Amino acid sequence: MKQRILVVNSGGDCPGMNAVIRAIVKRASQETKWEIIGSVNGFDGILSEPLELVPLTEKRVEGIHIQGGTILTTNNKRNPFNYPVKQKDGTIKNEDVTDKLIYNLKVFNFDAVIHIGGNESHKISHKLSQKGVNIIGIPKTINNDLSITDFSFGFQTAAHVATEAVDKLVTTANSHNRVLILEVMGRDAGWIALHAAIAGGAEVCLIPEIPIDMEKVLQKLKSRYTADGRGFANIVVAEGAYFKGEKNEKISGSIARKIAEKLKESNFQADIRETILGHLQRGGSPIAFDRILATELGVKAFELVKEKKFGTMAVHQNFELTHKDLKEVIDQYNKVELSHNLIHTAKGIGISFGD
Ligand code: F6P
Repeated sequence: MKQRILVVNSGGDCPGMNAVIRAIVKRASQETKWEIIGSVNGFDGILSEPLELVPLTEKRVEGIHIQGGTILTTNNKRNPFNYPVKQKDGTIKNEDVTDKLIYNLKVFNFDAVIHIGGNESHKISHKLSQKGVNIIGIPKTINNDLSITDFSFGFQTAAHVATEAVDKLVTTANSHNRVLILEVMGRDAGWIALHAAIAGGAEVCLIPEIPIDMEKVLQKLKSRYTADGRGFANIVVAEGAYFKGEKNEKISGSIARKIAEKLKESNFQADIRETILGHLQRGGSPIAFDRILATELGVKAFELVKEKKFGTMAVHQNFELTHKDLKEVIDQYNKVELSHNLIHTAKGIGISFGD
């Protein structure tokens, strides 16, 4: 009888998800006894009645590594420990449905689960592993906020998209003597902003790890203008950034506007405009780096199942493809350390962090 692996992707989509799925399937198909099945829309597929499962054959995954999104569809609100369940009266109540999940895995003969996800998803992986599920994790996130692994697929593509946006904004800021503010994603980490600011050539980079001092931002902006108002500047701000002395209240899509308001209040003379890059950072085809990384991680994850290294995640560490306990991965959040060499590099070329 064939051994069955359930592939679940959770959380926000991210460039490279399809490349991972393809790699798992292609690696498994080199051996005779494995069957790979996908769960539709995160854990919905294995929990719904009837089940929504997709047999992942080599034919089905042909050429999908270059496609954005995920052929399985995904969801960031389907934690099986806190899962929306329709009640008899039609209302929705969140419940722990992990016993049902474990029951379904058993009844439908699944030997293992490969879970592709970010921080929150792997907290789920770890808890499921503690409940006895044979689970292997794969790191995916555009935010680069997963610790332990040197790289998570999706991040480089997002940083590339953000850089292209800075490139374009620099030319129009220059033409109009404007200050242009670009807000990028990243959750509570400033990795995308930091990379895009350096690669695109912004003058100011604001990240959640360094609370913003508007006086310092103003100083930098003023240094970019002549007395008669000629000059331009570009600010890249991470969505999780916040002002010094103010509580860290993240309201997605708002920090760029707040900065613009504060600059206007301070009577800064230049024209100011904001751009919120949003989900453009998550969609579309992965760049080569992410396709390769996703493929490596998919192959490795399958091999970890074969070796029964359950409760671990396929990771890159110190240039080696290896595996680490899920517990280690979720114990820390990968923020930008102020001692990181890229902060040093950015400061070295005059980028202000508003500090
Ligand atoms: O975790 C990925 C991410 O894109 C974050 O950068 C962002 O904060 C969040 O997801 C957006 O979530 P949603 O797609 O639910 O708006």
